[in-house]
Amino acid sequence: AEVAMWNKVILPVVAQELPSTPHACMEGSCYPATGNLLIGRAINLTATSTCGLDGPEQYCIVSHLQDVSKCFKCDSQRPYDAYRHKKSHRVENVIYQRDSRGELTWWQSVNGEENVSIRLNLEAMFHFTHLIMKFKSFRPAAMIIERSSDFGRTWKPYRYYAYNCTKTFPWVPAHSLLFTDELICEERYSEIEPSTEGEVIYKVLDPAIHVKDPYSLGIQDLLQITNLRINFTKLHTLGDNLLDRRPDVLQKYYYALYELVVRGSCFCYGHASECAPVHGVTTRDPGMIHGRCVCKHNTVGLNCERCRDFYHDAPWRPAETDNTHTCRGKKCNCNGHSNQCHFDMAVYLATGNVSGGVCDNCLHNTMGHNCETCKPFYYQHPTRDIRDPAACIPCDCDPVGSVEGGVCDSHTDLDLGMIGGQCRCKQNVRGQRCDYCKEGHYGLSLDNPLGCQQCNCDSRGITMQGAPCDQISGDCSCKRYVTGRYCNQCLPEYWGLSNDLAGCRPCDCDFGGATSSR
Ligand SMILES: *[C@@H]1O[C@H](CO)[C@@H](O)[C@H](O)[C@H]1NC(C)=O
Ligand SMILES: *[C@@H]1O[C@H](CO)[C@@H](O)[C@H](O)[C@H]1NC(C)=O
Ligand SMILES: *[C@@H]1O[C@H](CO)[C@@H](O)[C@H](O)[C@H]1NC(C)=O
Ligand SMILES: *[C@@H]1O[C@H](CO)[C@@H](O)[C@H](O)[C@H]1NC(C)=O
Ligand SMILES: *[C@@H]1O[C@H](CO)[C@@H](O)[C@H](O)[C@H]1NC(C)=O
Repeated sequence: AEVAMWNKVILPVVAQELPSTPHACMEGSCYPATGNLLIGRAINLTATSTCGLDGPEQYCIVSHLQDVSKCFKCDSQRPYDAYRHKKSHRVENVIYQRDSRGELTWWQSVNGEENVSIRLNLEAMFHFTHLIMKFKSFRPAAMIIERSSDFGRTWKPYRYYAYNCTKTFPWVPAHSLLFTDELICEERYSEIEPSTEGEVIYKVLDPAIHVKDPYSLGIQDLLQITNLRINFTKLHTLGDNLLDRRPDVLQKYYYALYELVVRGSCFCYGHASECAPVHGVTTRDPGMIHGRCVCKHNTVGLNCERCRDFYHDAPWRPAETDNTHTCRGKKCNCNGHSNQCHFDMAVYLATGNVSGGVCDNCLHNTMGHNCETCKPFYYQHPTRDIRDPAACIPCDCDPVGSVEGGVCDSHTDLDLGMIGGQCRCKQNVRGQRCDYCKEGHYGLSLDNPLGCQQCNCDSRGITMQGAPCDQISGDCSCKRYVTGRYCNQCLPEYWGLSNDLAGCRPCDCDFGGATSSR
């Protein structure tokens, strides 16, 4: 009855966006179905203590009303079987209250053991809403519910329970809940009565407390679990002292649980209405709540916790009732040279979160994240757009005068001093193809590491206009009155090589006195 009542109270708060149909994802947030997380997970539910694991043990039932006890045997060496092993009280018995014949089944701890825990390990992050325990024995005099959201590395308590909170957990406040994630100790579930079928109910979000923003980090953190642990820490002993280790005393005190329900759903931040088995999970129980979200809104991850590759234009956010917060982006711009690309986080960050797309297998002799430049040994045709399949044409370099194997500038960028198609010339060579000697040089040759050699013209003797020397022969071009390969001699009848326009001056010998004009 308490459970039914509770359902009425909680549903409007926790399940306000439920139930979700696949269409719900189109308008806003959507949620996968909730269910009992224990179903299909018997192998991941463990107890630190089980009656009769090593062979039959006797236990007795007492009621605080009558002082007579009835005794029975437990034998949990084998799993429960409705016909052959009805005395088995392993922990998986708590998943269903009754067996196939309609009889009650339960888990039971070892007589007189006070510190016992039941633990559920989940294979992914789940959204946990509430827990219900139905005891066969007295409810524990003290217990703690704890959860982990990092696969058991760290644990945080959800709630403390004790018959006398100030005595058992003096450091935990025992008042009623004031805010959603307050840590408190409750006394109402630790009474001695009823002696059997007593329930304990824990709701992560107390319906009495209004949650302003169910997506706030604090609330999300509270709901997320990968593991759940229930520590029973104190037995009701009806006046007996457990330090008295006599079997007939201890046999009366143990924990026994008919049923445990751990309600929750796959955790998808409002981005999925369905979940599928996590990789490696082979259980095929139809009632199982699986842990891998079938993500919508361009999200990915077990929990739809990030945007799909290429969809990073806006930061990832959980979906809201009226806003899907769909991740947006465009795939890749490959300038028409590829229709394949991948996402690279480093590139994404390097571009200031603009694009992480990297094109694969750029065709047409292009390369770059967007196939936006020509490959080495190709350059962009000066009048063609990069999107033109014929934009990149091979470098054309004279092997005699060029270096670096004939590579050329891939495109023109005057700021960088690049001219599309310009080959890398040897030191004394020039020309786009590197097929001419620089001024003042001659004899372009493959063997010469500098390409051409200096003409060594006398600067005083060479003409002011045009090349100072012939680039084949190396002969210098001399001023009017100058001669010689290097233009370092005056013509006969001239003298005084200088920077004068004509280079030398006439001797200007007097006919009368000179025997020749030399
Ligand atoms: C149970 O644990 C508590 C605290 O962890 C400890 O004080 C107590 O002695 C333990 N009881 C037994 C019977 O081991
Ligand atoms: C559940 O149990 C199986 C079998 O023991 C184990 O392989 C798996 O790792 C467990 N899963 C978790 C989440 O602990
Ligand atoms: C709870 O324990 C404290 C400390 O031992 C004691 O003072 C108090 O009376 C107890 N409360 C009840 C209701 O028994
Ligand atoms: C619960 O029990 C486990 C052992 O099963 C122990 O490691 C843990 O500290 C206990 N938690 C609390 C809050 O006492
Ligand atoms: C870019 O994205 C990363 C990861 O999503 C984030 O940490 C960072 O703050 C973003 N940077 C900018 C400039 O938006």
